[in-house]
Parts: sequence; structure tokens; C-alpha cells
Amino acid sequence: MTARTPEVQTKLPAVGTTIFTVMSALAVEKNAVNLGQGFPDFGCDPKLLQAVTDAMAAGHNQYPPMPGILPLRQAIASKIATLYGHSYDPQTEITITAGATQAIITAILAVVRPGDEVIVLEPCYDSYVPNIDLAGGKVVRVPLTPGTFRPDFDKIAAALTPRTRAIIINTPHNPSATVWTEAEMQRLEELLAPTDVLVISDEVYEHMVYTGARHESAARFPGLAARTFIVSSFGKTYHVTGWKVGYVAAPAPLTAEFRKVHQFNVFTVNTPMQHALASFMADPAPYLELPAFYQRKRDLFAEGLAKTRLKLLPSGGTYFQCVDISEVSDLNEADFCQWLTSEIGVAAIPLSAFYGDGFDQRVVRFCFAKKDETLHNALERLARL
Ligand SMILES: Cc1ncc(COP(=O)(O)O)c(C=O)c1O
Repeated sequence: MTARTPEVQTKLPAVGTTIFTVMSALAVEKNAVNLGQGFPDFGCDPKLLQAVTDAMAAGHNQYPPMPGILPLRQAIASKIATLYGHSYDPQTEITITAGATQAIITAILAVVRPGDEVIVLEPCYDSYVPNIDLAGGKVVRVPLTPGTFRPDFDKIAAALTPRTRAIIINTPHNPSATVWTEAEMQRLEELLAPTDVLVISDEVYEHMVYTGARHESAARFPGLAARTFIVSSFGKTYHVTGWKVGYVAAPAPLTAEFRKVHQFNVFTVNTPMQHALASFMADPAPYLELPAFYQRKRDLFAEGLAKTRLKLLPSGGTYFQCVDISEVSDLNEADFCQWLTSEIGVAAIPLSAFYGDGFDQRVVRFCFAKKDETLHNALERLARL
């Protein structure tokens, strides 16, 4: 008898090897400084590591409750209430997830039915569209304004139909590093008020907002909070992206539906990390000091880039810096990034990777969540441009 693997018709025909994988492999091959990948090359606070060790030694190694341990949910509710002025019930409105990625797909699977429309604002994080596809939803792409990346509310309004089930927003925004203003959040609140459209608000960079601006969480706006799954990630805030722990805050009826899916796609999230994060959150300093920590790195990197012919776009939040390449090269974004990695020795990500149609506006993204020495090393190489 011959063993034969049955043929599988792919559920995600448009998904292949991403530019992130390609660029990372090329960066290794060419020994380039990797400013493409969106994660830190430095460690987290040793106190956080110790707290994990302590939690394991104390025997916190079995399944935690399905929505996450209560002290962590309480710490999150209290942080949101203090920073954004909205009270979530930790029992019924906060769920710990395996990073923001699982939170987003779980929210989508919980509320999007086949044929429902979901609005995404392009450029956008790469998991949103495949998540909607897996739910059988219809992706409705609305571009952010080219050049400024501001939301275009006329275009968003025009995209709303009776079939619109949800809109996904992301502030501070990956990849453009823009931050939504209070007025923009209010516009969204007003626009959605007469509708039953839900919001998935990806706020993983909530603690990285610069020059004194504040993060406009959907939690600040009652009309949005009532219809929104707010998603965040400890990976970004505490420099532990590999731990994959995040959370969702949403009104009780939305959380109830979220948990129905959550309990069958992950059931729950690793126990010792949850205990460690709960005790570490008692001190707000690490997240309150994050803007100053990253703003210094942003400015250090920007100062070096200003000496090149790359044109800096504003970086108001996140740990990304976008640059316009048009004075340096005639190549398209993807080819430029390959060239930059191979010939200059610095990896970056083309913005076209964040558009369904590969829209090319001659802009690439660098990540500055790196040790100072890594940034200096990259700048020395980029000085040739
Ligand atoms: C906008 C955005 N959303 C979600 C994620 C995923 O976060 P996590 O690692 O917690 O799954 C990322 C990570 O890069 C991101 O940039």
C-alpha cells in the first residue's frame, strides 16, 4: 500500500512567504544590521524574569482559569481605568490572550460570519486580512491618506454598508508610526453611532507615543468603548515579544462571545508569565517611562538619518521610523530593501508589504527598538546614502 497525503485546497491562496521572512533571511545571509524586524534586540527588566522564576518555583505551573488569572485581569482593569478613564469588569470584560495576534483572530472569528464585511485601513498589519478570510468575511480595504497616513472619514463612511460587521483600527500605527488624534477618534465615534458596526482597536503600541501627545485609546470614548474589542500586548510594552501574552478588553456581551472562541482555540495562556506580569504591573513606572525611553532612541536614529538623503516621515508613536527613498534610489520599495540589505548592510521593510495590491509610495520602515550600539552601527552604514 502506498502512503499518500491527500491534496488540500488552500484556504489562504494569497498567503505565501512574507517579505518579513525574506528580509530576515537576507539580513542573516548578508550579515546586515536588522532594522526590519519589529522587536527589541535588548532584554527585559531582570525583575520581570525573576518574577517568572518565582512564579514557577511557587508552583504556578498548571492550567490557569480560561480567561486568565484574576490578579492580572484586575491589574489591567485598574491600568485602563487610571489611564483612559473607563472601568472594565475584570471578571466579565477582560481576557488574557496569547499575544495580540490571537486576540485579533479570536475577536474576528467570534463576530464575523461568512459574507460579513470588515473594513481594514491600509497599510495594515499583516494578520488582519487572512483572519477575515478565515472567518469567511469580505475584506473591504480603505486606504489611509497617502503621504500623511491620516484616516479619511469620507472614504470610511463611503465603505460602510448594511453588511459591515466591523472595522479594524490601529493606533499608534504600524507601519506608518502615526497616532490618531482625539478629534479623529471622535469622528469615528460619531460615524459609527447610528450603526451596529463593531470595532477591533489594535493598541499594542499604546505606551509608545511621543512629544507629549497622548494615546487615544478607544476606551476614552464611551460610544466606541461600548462597541470595541481593545487589544494590547505585553510583548511590546515590556520588551518580551517572545512571551506572546496580550489581552482583550471589551463589554461583557462581546467578551462572552470572545471567550466562546478563545476557550477552544487556546483555552488559556501560560501560567507563570501571567503571575509575573500581574506582580510587575503593580509598578506603573515601566510603562509610564516607555515614551521617554523610546523617544530618545527615535531621536538618536533620526539625527543620524537626517545626514543622509533619506527623507524622514514623522514618527509620532510605535518603534518605527519611515523614510522616503525617492532622492536616494529609483528602485521600487521591495527592490530597494533588498539592495539596502545586500549593499549597505541594513535591513528595512517596504511599506508595499502592508497593502493588498502592493501599493508603492517609495517609503520603507525601520525599527529603532534596538540597542544604541545597533543603531550607531546601522547609521554608520546608512551614512553612505
Ligand atoms: C500592529 C500590531 N498588531 C499586533 C501585533 C502582534 O502582537 P503580539 O506579538 O502580541 O501577537 C503586532 C506585532 O508586531 C503589531 O505590530
